[in-house]
Order: sequence, then structure tokens, then C-alpha cells
Amino acid sequence: MEKNFKRTLITTALPYANGPVHIGHLAGVYVPADIYARYLRMKGDDVIMVGGSDEHGVPITLKARKEGVTPQDIVDRYHAIIRDSMHELGISFDVYGRTTSETHNKTASEFFRRLYDNDKFIVKTSQQPYDEKAGEFLADRYVVGTCPRCGKDGAYGDQCEACGSSLSATELINPRSALTDSPVTMKETTHWYLPLDRYENALKQWILEGHKEWKTNVYGQCKSWLDLGLQPRAVSRDLKWGVPVPVEGADDKVLYVWFDAPIGYISNTKDLLPDSWEKYWKDPETRVINFIGKDNIVFHCIVFPAMLMAYGDNFQLPDNVPANEFLNLEGDKISTSRNWAVWLHEYLRDFPGRQDTLRYVLTANAPETKDNDFTWADFQARSNNELVAILGNFVNRAVVLTHKYFDGIVPEPGQPEPIDIKLREEVKEAVSRMSAAIDTFHFREALKDMMEIARIGNRYLQETEPWKVAKTDMERVRTILYHAIELCGNLAAAMEPFMPFSSRKLADMLRIDRLDWSMADKDQTVAPGTALAPAELLFEKIDDETIQGQLDRLERIKKENVIRNFKPEPQAADVDFDTFAKSDIRVGTVLECSKVKKASKLLKFLIDDGMEKRTIVSGIAAYYQPEDLIGKQVCFISNLPPRKLMGIESQGMILSAVNADGSLVVIGPTAPVVPGAQVK
Ligand code: 2FM
Ligand code: ZN
Repeated sequence: MEKNFKRTLITTALPYANGPVHIGHLAGVYVPADIYARYLRMKGDDVIMVGGSDEHGVPITLKARKEGVTPQDIVDRYHAIIRDSMHELGISFDVYGRTTSETHNKTASEFFRRLYDNDKFIVKTSQQPYDEKAGEFLADRYVVGTCPRCGKDGAYGDQCEACGSSLSATELINPRSALTDSPVTMKETTHWYLPLDRYENALKQWILEGHKEWKTNVYGQCKSWLDLGLQPRAVSRDLKWGVPVPVEGADDKVLYVWFDAPIGYISNTKDLLPDSWEKYWKDPETRVINFIGKDNIVFHCIVFPAMLMAYGDNFQLPDNVPANEFLNLEGDKISTSRNWAVWLHEYLRDFPGRQDTLRYVLTANAPETKDNDFTWADFQARSNNELVAILGNFVNRAVVLTHKYFDGIVPEPGQPEPIDIKLREEVKEAVSRMSAAIDTFHFREALKDMMEIARIGNRYLQETEPWKVAKTDMERVRTILYHAIELCGNLAAAMEPFMPFSSRKLADMLRIDRLDWSMADKDQTVAPGTALAPAELLFEKIDDETIQGQLDRLERIKKENVIRNFKPEPQAADVDFDTFAKSDIRVGTVLECSKVKKASKLLKFLIDDGMEKRTIVSGIAAYYQPEDLIGKQVCFISNLPPRKLMGIESQGMILSAVNADGSLVVIGPTAPVVPGAQVK
């Protein structure tokens, strides 16, 4: 049964303040949440959107240690970057708080204390990873090692980023400390655990029976956790950075970051509405929606709800958790540590004034049902072929023609013809599909319906041809352009949730002060007689050079990563000196160099070796232009038996170093030497 709600509380996953946000965060969480919030506000609903930075946990302290600064320095820096860049992108948080705030400290502490006082925890003493050298326990990501599932090194004590598996530190193969790289030992420690098993039936009832409408990826993940059976989960850690455990004798223990972070939603609501926050959390007529990425599902659907059940006091569980899958970049997983990302603050710097283009592309490609790929070629194509050529083009034609024929004054329409009536029907259908799609969190579909309105407009102008009719029937032109402008008003409203900046620009052109959702399919959005503002382009094309600049940046990052990850081959077995000395290595000067026909890898050299000249064939064509090597000195092994390559006798082997990416660099002396000189 559909429930009627009075208000909506939208929460958005709190990003760790250990780095800036990237397009993956935006496509997965913030852009869809913002579309939803803006849509509800336009409908006149009572809605708040709560966000903030997640400032505790090992991701923060690891970053601080890496940079040699304090955790506070790290969170101060990235909180500001994240907050400002999201604001600039138009993500309309009602509050963007931080989990280091006073309010949060108190709220999280009080939450723990109440559960503690009401015997909602169990206490367990167990062996936990410890670093003898540093004298510290190694929580979560402080342990690194080889992933038992995919075999990749560099997996963390809580998760392998390569294959996405959830892990525990004790499962890692060859576990090491991220602090000192020394092997991990085990030491006894005591922690508080939330016995999730106590809530298993209630959770099953609530999700598996009560929320069959949730997205399949979310429902499926919950079902597999619940089918496996829930275990008690530790909610404290031996760390110094975090909310202190509010229990006597718990020095050097803090709340587990996944215990404190979701409480951040509550604390930030308190900061926004100190006197009325409770109605957004405890009134059954409030609908709570959590926007998150797929890696956060278990915490929002199982752990945090169990915490709220344990707390009681009528805290409302989420009505929906529309979690998205992941966005990849140019076919590769987005990764903060590998710098494989498009960072929002850099995008805003490189593409000033183009916030809506990014919002549009990320929505069109949103990873709603499966992982998806962002490519710069697609970004350019969607910008130029869709935003410029379809949406921008329609609006521009309608406004420019109104200026041309009626000095920019919206004309009074005459009797509608069937095509005008059909136009209105088509718009109403598109808007009704769009609303239904947004209501069910299908934002990609909704965006298509929004664009359909512009397509309808283009078809209408194409079919009615006002520029031709103007030669014979100005009365008819009045009606046509009236409808075209009316449609621009519909568009301005329909665009707002997705592209608020262009929506405002269009509304200003049409002299519309306030947009609301009813205007998306309303007849007469702009009254006849209204003097339009001068036509302005809503979108401009993105050129090839700009896109190439972004691709070059990614290429550079790829190379940097290859070099950073280079591990030298293990040293070969010893050889005795005499064996080595049998190789006669010489320096020669390249006299001629050319490509070998029908052998794309080979170059043919004529070398001055101080004796007779010799020919050598070498497989380095992929790395050099032949003319660049002429005149250079190279080292070669002179006493190998001659070998035929593509019918050419090669009398030696040119020496090259193999670079991290497998490319070859020819070896030569650092100063000129006489050809034929021996290498000793
Ligand atoms: O995965 C993350 O980036 C977490 N910082 C999300 C926390 S969501 C909420 F619970 F705070
Ligand atoms: Zn793995």
C-alpha cells in the first residue's frame, strides 16, 4: 500500500574528507539526490537534503600520515574543497556539515551511551592485528596484504579495491602494517559489538517482506547478507582519531567510523534545524531516502537500521535506498590512489560555466543498474549533439524567430490547428512519464523524457515552418511562435532538476521569475505581450582540442602509475667473470637507419664499428623514428653468430633498457667515444 507522507528527508552518503570528490561520487550519489530534491521542492513538497563530510576513520589518518600532517589538517583542507565544489556544481544541500563538529561529537557519543546503558552491546575480548614496532593496534586499512580472493597485493584489512570483496584483516595473505611495513602480530584487546543477529528477523521482515520495490541490486545484496545470517559487529576501534568511546576506562578507543558516520545525518539535521529536527527523523509521516553508492548498502540497509532499532525512540528507517553501481573512467575503475578520476574541482576550473554539461552527461550515463563508463568522447558527443544541437537549438530558434517577426513580444495565438493540439498532448505525455520516472528513481529515463520535449519542439518547428509561412500568413506565424515559446517555458521547468543553471538562463530569457513543477506541462507559460530578453545560447560546443587536453592528462597519469608501480625483475643467478667477459660489447656510430619492409617492429642499422661497417637488425621500430638515431652512438654485442631476420643478415645485437611500460631505450655512451671502443 502506498503510504502518504508529509515530508521527505534526503540523505547523501558523507564522502571521506581524505580527497576531493570525483565524477564517480557525483554520478552515484550527489547528482541523482540533487535531481530528486530539486524536483520535490518544485512540487512544493516539504523536503530537506542533508550532506556533509565523513571526517573520521582510517582513510583520514592514513592520508595524514602519508603527507606528514595532522588528520585535522587533512579534513579541514578537503572538507572545504568538497563543500565549495559541490556548491559550485549546484548540489543544493540544505546543510553540509562535518563529523568533527561539536554537535556530532555529542550526538554520536550520546547515541553510543544510550545503547551501552540499555545493554544493547556485547563486550568481546579477541586477538587483533598489532604492530610491535609502532606499538599500535592496526584497525581496518592499517593492515595491507595479498587478497585471498583475487590474489592482488595491496588489499586492505577491510576491503580489496581490486575485486571489491569485503575482507577482514585476518584473512589477508602476508599481512603487513601500513604504518611500518613490518609483519603483523596479534594482541588481545576488548571491544563493544552490536549483535546484529538480534535484529535479523526484524530486518528480514522490514526489507524482504516490506520493501520488495527496492532496486534489485539493493534488495539482492540485503537478501544475501540476511540469508547468510548476521553476526555481531565491532563498533569501537583502538585508534586516537575519532569520537572517544564514552565509557570509563576506554582510553585510546574511539567509535568505529561506520558507527559514527551515519549518525552524522542526524547531527547535521540538528545543526540545520535545532528546534524541529526531530520531525524529520521520528515522525512516521516523514519519508527518509538514503542516496548512496553500492559499497555502502550493508551499512545503510543493515547496520544503521539495526542501530536505530536498538536506539528506539521512533527513529524512522529509510523508505528507500536507491544505491547506484559504479562509474568507470575510460574503461578503467576510478581510483583515488591511482589518481584515475575526473576531479570535480579540476573540472570546474577546466570547464568554467559548464556545470550543466557535466550534470547532464553524468545523468545520461548514470550507473543505475550496472557499472557504466565515462569517456571524454561521449562527453563531447552528448554536449555537442544533444545539448547544443537539440535542446539549445530549439530554444534558440524559438526565441530568435520571435525577435525577428515580433520584436521579441510574445504574440497572441489564433485558433489552434490539429498539429498545435497534438503538440500539447505530446508534451503532457512526456512530462507525465518524466514525473513517474523521477518518483521511482529512474533518472536516466526521466532525462530522456526531458530531452523529448526539446525534440517535440524541433519537430514542431520543422513541420510548421514558420519562416516559410511568414511570407503568406502572419496570423498563423503568431500561433506557431506562441506555442514554441510556451514550450520553452515547459522546458525551463522540466530542465530545472537536471540542469538548474541553464534552466534559470532560459527562464530569464522568458521573463519567468519562479519556476514550479506544474509549469512543466502547463499551457501558456509565458503570457502574450511579454517582452522576451535578447536570445542567448544555452550551450556552446566543446572543441576537439579541449577534449584532447583531458585525454592527454589521463595518458600522463597512466604513465606515472606504470612508473610508480614498477618492480625490478629479480636478479638473475650469478655468472663467473670469464663467462661475462666472453661477450664482446662495443660502441658503434649509426650511419644509416631505416624501417624494414613488411616487418613493423624492425629497424635496419648500418653501424660504423671501427673495423668494417656492419648491419644490425633490431626490434625497436615502435619506439624510434629511424632518422632520430642516425649519428647516435649505441652499444652492441659484436660476437654473436650472425642471424637472418626478414632475409637480412644481422651481425650483432643493439643493447636497450626495458622501461616500466615495456618500451625500449637504446643504450649508448654518455660522451662520444671512438667507434669500436669496447665496453668493459
Ligand atoms: O564510503 C564512504 O565514502 C563513506 N565515507 C560513506 C559514509 S556514508 C554515511 F554513513 F555517513
Ligand atoms: Zn581482491
